[in-house]
Amino acid sequence: MALHCCNKIWVFIIVIFLIIVENVSAATFGCSTGQTDDFRNVALSVHRQYRQLLAQGKAPNKCGQLPEAKNYYEINWDCALETDAKAWSDACNYAYKSGATQALTMGSASSPADAIKKLMIKMANTPITNGADPDTYNNANNDWNRVINYKVLAVGCASKLCSGMYFTVCHYDKPAFSNEKLYEKGTNCVTDSDCTTLLESTCKDGLCIAPPKPDETINTVCSSNPSMNDYARDQLVKWHNYYRALVIKGNEPAAGGRKAPKGKNMYKIKYSCAIETNAQNYANTCPYPTHSLSTARPGWGENMAWISTGTIGESMAKSVQLYYSELLSPGMADLVTNIVTYPADKGAGHYTQVVWGNTYEIGCGGKKCPDGYWHLVCQYNVAGNWNNTAVYQVASTGPGGCATDADCTTQAADTCSTSDGLCNRV
Ligand SMILES: *[C@@H]1O[C@H](CO)[C@@H](O)[C@H](O)[C@H]1NC(C)=O
Repeated sequence: MALHCCNKIWVFIIVIFLIIVENVSAATFGCSTGQTDDFRNVALSVHRQYRQLLAQGKAPNKCGQLPEAKNYYEINWDCALETDAKAWSDACNYAYKSGATQALTMGSASSPADAIKKLMIKMANTPITNGADPDTYNNANNDWNRVINYKVLAVGCASKLCSGMYFTVCHYDKPAFSNEKLYEKGTNCVTDSDCTTLLESTCKDGLCIAPPKPDETINTVCSSNPSMNDYARDQLVKWHNYYRALVIKGNEPAAGGRKAPKGKNMYKIKYSCAIETNAQNYANTCPYPTHSLSTARPGWGENMAWISTGTIGESMAKSVQLYYSELLSPGMADLVTNIVTYPADKGAGHYTQVVWGNTYEIGCGGKKCPDGYWHLVCQYNVAGNWNNTAVYQVASTGPGGCATDADCTTQAADTCSTSDGLCNRV
């Protein structure tokens, strides 16, 4: 009897929420909408509580529980999202705001804090009523899809008494798309290295904790380009080196159940403002998907991406992840010699440029174009993707990567970055 089982779970959920809500800490939020920190504490706690239950595979589904989540992040409060939510709730118009990622409810409650609890109980009941699967967006689950979406890192809510009913509005920092997974099924994180969506994440109680929100207004490294910022540059360098250091260890999953081979003499990527200027000039023409002429970037390679959401820094980080994912799909033809041949390896061309062993410098630019997308351009010195050439040198012995300067033999002066096994080009 499905109904009986679901009723019992529903009661269980409410009990859980009440326990947590009574134990909220006295966090201060520093927001200035006129709402209370007590309200914020309750609103954040009910979100965290439900998302934690879900991540652990304990949130109720139509029958049974929703599957456990892998690489699932804790949610934080955001004053700017609260400000948007407050403006919307104050209007007392129970409708969705175009372009915003919202959860809404209108109903009787004893206080704003009580109203937000009711919103989350309504959310928790959605999959019980309709059934849910993290692989498939279900329109019937409406707001719930947005509340639990794995990409969401921040929330801000508001509740307004409108003719005797509380209109409660939450805004989320990332939209959920109907053609994407809501979250990845799998085991909760155990160590920090299980949290791979954002660099420098940590794992706590099975949830991934994001690093502090970056300040994307700082632009000192290549300050003459106002379209980029230091966070975006830092992410580009770190994601490239993260993948380069991983791939040479020989454990990276590749298409066909294979692994990319262990490597050596892999350069550590540095950032170049001169390359950035060139890449930015090209990005400013909104060129996606057409590559620049090779004469416009002599000796440099190029990767391009087209991304609709996020800041420039978030989009740049995402682009490197997308490039690298080609190792798994469609994959490279020969992972024993690691030699690329075209046209067979055309589909992995972004991946092969990201981990091209001799490449040691990048510079990137991006523009939000009239089509609503970021047109992102990264250029690489030296260019990779030479036909009949190894992507990086295969290591036949050892763990992969350098341990001492003597292991870095491309140029006599090269040194070993022992923390990651990559070689510094001096
Ligand atoms: C790459 O090299 C292979 C093998 O020599 C050759 O068959 C192919 O035509 C070359 N591809 C391109 C695009 O030059």
